[in-house]
Amino acid sequence: MRIGIFVHSQTGNTYGVALKLKEQLTANGHTVDLERLNIPDAVQPGTAVTFAALPDFQKYDALVFGAPVQGFSLSPGMTSFLQQVGPIEGKKTVCLMTQHFPYPWMGGNRAIGQMKTLCESKGATPCATAIVNWKNKRREQQIANGIARICASL
Ligand SMILES: Cc1cc2nc3c(=O)[nH]c(=O)nc-3n(C[C@H](O)[C@H](O)[C@H](O)COP(=O)(O)O)c2cc1C
Repeated sequence: MRIGIFVHSQTGNTYGVALKLKEQLTANGHTVDLERLNIPDAVQPGTAVTFAALPDFQKYDALVFGAPVQGFSLSPGMTSFLQQVGPIEGKKTVCLMTQHFPYPWMGGNRAIGQMKTLCESKGATPCATAIVNWKNKRREQQIANGIARICASL
């Protein structure tokens, strides 16, 4: 499968997880593109980010969207991106989230729900989701489990 991973990562955490995911998907025989979206820091909630160019999803069989929790919500940058991209129906879709706090109920579940709703508004129902809690003692296990779950779904 050809898979596109599109990530908003302000400080590098989500991008680091996405790199590991790319590595594993590639080892599983997929062709993977990983793009870190160009989003300015400190975008205020509710503020739209304008993208110079939006990716062409036509060439992908599956899409992975990754972003941080910001202000107990999906980052405004990824929110803008998913609002502006074209339809994604017919493609396997995955949502990946990282957050500072140690448990998903501390904003991660809410943010990933917002990401799923945006994907659904573009015609795709996510087949897997993963949340990595940066301050959780079992973070590395969370990353490994999330990657395994995502790989199994694609
Ligand atoms: C403006 C801002 C708001 C944030 N709000 C939250 C939050 O509400 N809950 C949380 O757990 N982490 C929050 N964080 C921390 C990030 O979600 C966390 O560090 C994440 O892993 C960063 O991912 P990144 O390095 O890919 O940007 C916030 C970070 C920033 C910069």
